[in-house]
Amino acid sequence: MKKVLGIFGSPRPHGNSDVLLDQAMKGAEASNADVEKIIVRDLQIAPCNSCGGCFEKGVCVIGDDMQAVYSRLVDAHGIIVATPIYFMGVSAQLKALIDRCQAFWARKYILNLPIRENGRFAKGFFIATAARDDGEGLFTGAVKTIKSFFHVLDTKYVGNILSAGLEEKGAVQKRQELLQQAFDAGRQLLEL
Ligand SMILES: Cc1cc2nc3c(=O)[nH]c(=O)nc-3n(C[C@H](O)[C@H](O)[C@H](O)COP(=O)(O)O)c2cc1C
Repeated sequence: MKKVLGIFGSPRPHGNSDVLLDQAMKGAEASNADVEKIIVRDLQIAPCNSCGGCFEKGVCVIGDDMQAVYSRLVDAHGIIVATPIYFMGVSAQLKALIDRCQAFWARKYILNLPIRENGRFAKGFFIATAARDDGEGLFTGAVKTIKSFFHVLDTKYVGNILSAGLEEKGAVQKRQELLQQAFDAGRQLLEL
């Protein structure tokens, strides 16, 4: 059974990115994928400290909850990342998880090791919510970060839902078109 991993980056439960991610996960389930959601705020994930420990074996030497996340990222066939926009970027909790993927960078570019068996690529989808669009490239920074994350993970960036105008918790519940779009994205992810 193919696996779809949801990575939930907001510290706010039942907020806008949470609702959209859950819709996408329901869609993935409807396509018969085996789904799992990682709630990043519940994990103890230290930021990368640039110690270079991963350069030797491609494995991070920090012993925290990130160790259980690495294998899930490798096993996944689909990865859906959801985050609110914080100061034009992804949440700090999610950024710590992403920075710890420097171990994959070391694996690939220093040790010339594959990320997955047979060079398999996963499919990656990005969901971001924000309050207001001031025309200054609200999502640009976050999209670049996620593209870079997917790139190091041999994961093809297949699409996104980037939605402004969502400030209060649950505001997204009134946006039926976004809920449907998220469900469809999850359902189609592995075919994209
Ligand atoms: C610390 C913090 C920083 C934020 N920065 C921005 C921002 O730069 N631009 C923006 O439009 N909204 C910003 N917001 C609003 C959130 O992105 C918005 O409410 C989002 O829908 C929250 O998603 P959630 O409900 O999934 O947590 C910020 C909110 C917080 C708490």
